[in-house]
Amino acid sequence: MPSKPAENSSPRPRGDTSWFVNDRFGMFIHWGLYALPARHEWIKHHEQIPDADYDKYFKHFDPDMYNPDAWAAAASNAGMKYFVITTKHHEGFCLWDSKLTDYKATNTPAGRDLLRPMVDAFRRRNMRVGLYHSLIDWHHPDFVIDDMHSMRNSPDRKKLNAKRVQARYAEYLHGQVREILSQYGKIDILWFDFSYPAGKSGRGADWIGKGREDWKSEALIRLVRELQPQVILDERLDLPDGWDIKTPEQFQPREWVKVDGKPVVWEACQTFSGSWGYHRDEESWKSVDMLVQMLIDTVSKGGNLLLNVGPTGRGEFDRRALERLDGMGEWMRRHARSIYGCTQAPAEFKAPQDCRLTFNPAKKRLYVHLFAWPFQALHLDGKAFVERVEYAQLLNDASEISFRKSLTPQARRGPDRHDTLTLTLPVKKPGVTVPAIELFLK
Ligand code: GLC
Repeated sequence: MPSKPAENSSPRPRGDTSWFVNDRFGMFIHWGLYALPARHEWIKHHEQIPDADYDKYFKHFDPDMYNPDAWAAAASNAGMKYFVITTKHHEGFCLWDSKLTDYKATNTPAGRDLLRPMVDAFRRRNMRVGLYHSLIDWHHPDFVIDDMHSMRNSPDRKKLNAKRVQARYAEYLHGQVREILSQYGKIDILWFDFSYPAGKSGRGADWIGKGREDWKSEALIRLVRELQPQVILDERLDLPDGWDIKTPEQFQPREWVKVDGKPVVWEACQTFSGSWGYHRDEESWKSVDMLVQMLIDTVSKGGNLLLNVGPTGRGEFDRRALERLDGMGEWMRRHARSIYGCTQAPAEFKAPQDCRLTFNPAKKRLYVHLFAWPFQALHLDGKAFVERVEYAQLLNDASEISFRKSLTPQARRGPDRHDTLTLTLPVKKPGVTVPAIELFLK
């Protein structure tokens, strides 16, 4: 498997992913009115809440403790190199001071554009800027009510749709994309979410969904490339090409993500718990061990990890998120070079049991991440290890790890063949979340 994705043959212009495949680790932030009901960002859909009832969250959205510098510090200290913020989620509420709607933070008790100070704060920490923008809008009066809409079961669905013009919504959508791509400087990632056309992603032909025609995706992607040609674009516009990254979510791919058999640039997006938006009572919070292992596992397959925080209605990251970000930062402080600039190891290096390999091609260094600590010996099978490893150390404290070429039982019967490199490990596991051994290659 190559250590970089195949060049995409798409005739459309593409974004710049060169920094992306180096930086590997980013923060997703889902923040909107849904932080107030505090039980998932799809709450309006799940509970089919009419606008009139949902407006109470608009009236009471007052993030008085909002401090984007603290957010940027938490992300940066965790080792994250970029962030992606929901400018607007499916509820239709806008964090920035859009001139195209009154349904925005400026008109809530927050009383201001919340996007600008956030972009500025993350840039001050030299982090790249990503904008998530929902194609879906359960508040806009021209968004045709479909089988995903919060009003999908309204008895007035037909009557309401008679007055709705989807093309007018598409115009609004493009106008807002123009705003967020024109008013906040250089944007590094644009994350549209998401298309759900009939007959795709498991939905039957009678499903009333939305896709490229409803968004006018062809014109939209041209607008994006006109305004921010370098921007990295995800693949959720329901277009066969022109995107830069595949974005599997809420699961760990078992190998490098491919399209038509070719490896592509990919990013797994994951939550700390079971919700993207702040969810007070949801308890399935992943441990720091699991989160660090997910990051390593992702990079070992040539991917990026975008890990999500849902800030509260007061404008803070809650304690559970901060504790995990701290724990990941603690590991990254000594292990970051086994993540940044790394990718999948060349095929000739086989990961031992309970381990993942990451590889820095520029420095010719291989990292063995031990998800379980074996007793005294770690066997690295294969001639590549035997012939190319010239030094080994524990990454956390640079203490040497000695090794010997050893004969496996099979080799004993054959000609004098060394096909295993056996590392001698301390009995006691190093006091870090996931120990890593740094192998210097000839
Ligand atoms: C899913 C969720 C959506 C979230 C997105 C992030 O589509 O439904 O709320 O924003 O994942 O990838």
